[in-house]
Amino acid sequence: MADTARHPFLQGLSKHRGAPPTVVVIFGASGDLTARKLIPAVYNLAYDNLLPADFFLVGFGRKAIPDEEFRGLAAEAIKEFSRRELKADVWDRLAPLTTYVAGGYDEPAAFTRLAAHLDAIEKQLGREVQTLFYISTPPTVFAPIIRNLGSSGLAARHLGQLHQAKVIIEKPFGRDLISARALNVTLRSVFEETQVYRIDHYLGKETVQDLLVQRFANSIFEPLWNRNFISSVQITVAEEVGVGSRGGYYEQSGCLRDMIQNHAMQLVALTAMEPPVSLEAEAIRDEKVKLLRAIQPLNLGPAGDVSRAQYAAGMVAGKPVPGYLEEEGISPTSATETYAALRLSINNWRWQGVPFYLRSGKRLARRVSEIAVTFRRPPGTLFAEGDKFDLSANTLAFQIQPDEGMHLVVNTKIPGLETRTQPVKMSFRYRTTFGSNTAEAYERLVLDAMVGDGTLFIRGDETEASWQLCSPLLGVWEGSGREGMQSYAAGSWGPTGADSLIARDQCAWRQP
Ligand SMILES: NC(=O)c1ccc[n+]([C@@H]2O[C@H](COP(=O)([O-])OP(=O)(O)OC[C@H]3O[C@@H](n4cnc5c(N)ncnc54)[C@H](OP(=O)(O)O)[C@@H]3O)[C@@H](O)[C@H]2O)c1
Repeated sequence: MADTARHPFLQGLSKHRGAPPTVVVIFGASGDLTARKLIPAVYNLAYDNLLPADFFLVGFGRKAIPDEEFRGLAAEAIKEFSRRELKADVWDRLAPLTTYVAGGYDEPAAFTRLAAHLDAIEKQLGREVQTLFYISTPPTVFAPIIRNLGSSGLAARHLGQLHQAKVIIEKPFGRDLISARALNVTLRSVFEETQVYRIDHYLGKETVQDLLVQRFANSIFEPLWNRNFISSVQITVAEEVGVGSRGGYYEQSGCLRDMIQNHAMQLVALTAMEPPVSLEAEAIRDEKVKLLRAIQPLNLGPAGDVSRAQYAAGMVAGKPVPGYLEEEGISPTSATETYAALRLSINNWRWQGVPFYLRSGKRLARRVSEIAVTFRRPPGTLFAEGDKFDLSANTLAFQIQPDEGMHLVVNTKIPGLETRTQPVKMSFRYRTTFGSNTAEAYERLVLDAMVGDGTLFIRGDETEASWQLCSPLLGVWEGSGREGMQSYAAGSWGPTGADSLIARDQCAWRQP
């Protein structure tokens, strides 16, 4: 049987039993994310007895939905999307604690009604309760909701006490540096930074958290984690799906905004940051910000650090699929990239001269997110690459999803009378060691916000540091229309321009 009892993150969860009494209020409660992730996350926390003894769930949205109907929708969402089936005794506990308030996101009176609803919960309970607001609406209404939380007094509920209100805000956090700064200004005009939890669900994934354990709890990696031993780092966030029915949304976003600025940059920060002085949230976030600020501005010239492309028609899983420009809701002259690759240079003592390659795209050969750290080759005095010796640079690869785990590529002698070599993979898989039914990212993140642990959330200065790098690139791409836009066949690993970008350093993209 797998030794799950000693797994550090399962152990860590026990501290969450100390979450104070909480009301989670979801704005956008009739939406896709609420059904797919948020309700199932709350249900699974209830299932594991990780919710505080006094817990309430309030949905908020423009549609008038009676409490009973909202409970029915929540039960349906659990049946469809939860990692565990709807169990009567768990749901019977949660259902009566689930209510709904209808109102507009820009309607002050609706927030007064919400405040009265929360007061009634506290009155009935006979004690103070912290409120965790979860903003899960389209970004156009983030600011009105925040302002109304301020003007209604809800943001200042029990401020300065254990039960002070908190707010989780969904991605995307801004469209560029200017809008991200403006959103931060709005947030700070209403909330203290310690009340704000900017989500990037990648940080809730086990493998992303494991990165810190691998780096700082193993003495074999940390001494090698620098320019003396590492030649390059490749980060891949690949999707197999196309835009599907979300073309309208994607046209306004594109790959850089959707994947690189947030998920891929967070992976860079965690891979490359200096050891934090402690595991406290601020210590880790300080190091991430320092790292993000050490990334040099991108060379945006013709043979520079970036490549962008759109997928053309091709074959995925043996079936023909259309190109991006033929998808529903996409303009035939669209200049939105479905693929982006970047070469980052980090100008600090540890990483100078070590390129970090990032790539992300839709309709790539397979769905995979991976960080691959490639070590320098040893001198070829004894074993030189050639007919007899099939050698590979040692590579440590963290597979974030799917099939979470890691492997190390080492060169090995092939058994036999002759000395011949072959690279082999030493692998660890979460599924085989710890079982497959691990918590979803949103479970961990909702719970962390309830206990006030911001480690796996993004601080305001962090998001701005990341936009500082990506925003000028977006400006150039938006100004140049389709000029320089490449294409790649759906089902391939991306455009030739991205191959050239990396080939300049005598490197090649991995096929994870
Ligand atoms: N869906 C995902 O898988 C996913 C993944 C990662 C991040 N996110 C982020 O999570 C947030 C919510 O995503 P979602 O997919 O759940 O969104 P959604 O279904 O489009 O919208 C959520 C709810 O917001 C309200 N709403 C929709 N459009 C609105 C508008 N134009 N003005 C005011 N209210 C509107 C609707 O509720 P009422 O009509 O009842 O008010 C809707 O049910 C977004 O910021 C998204 O970027 C989503």
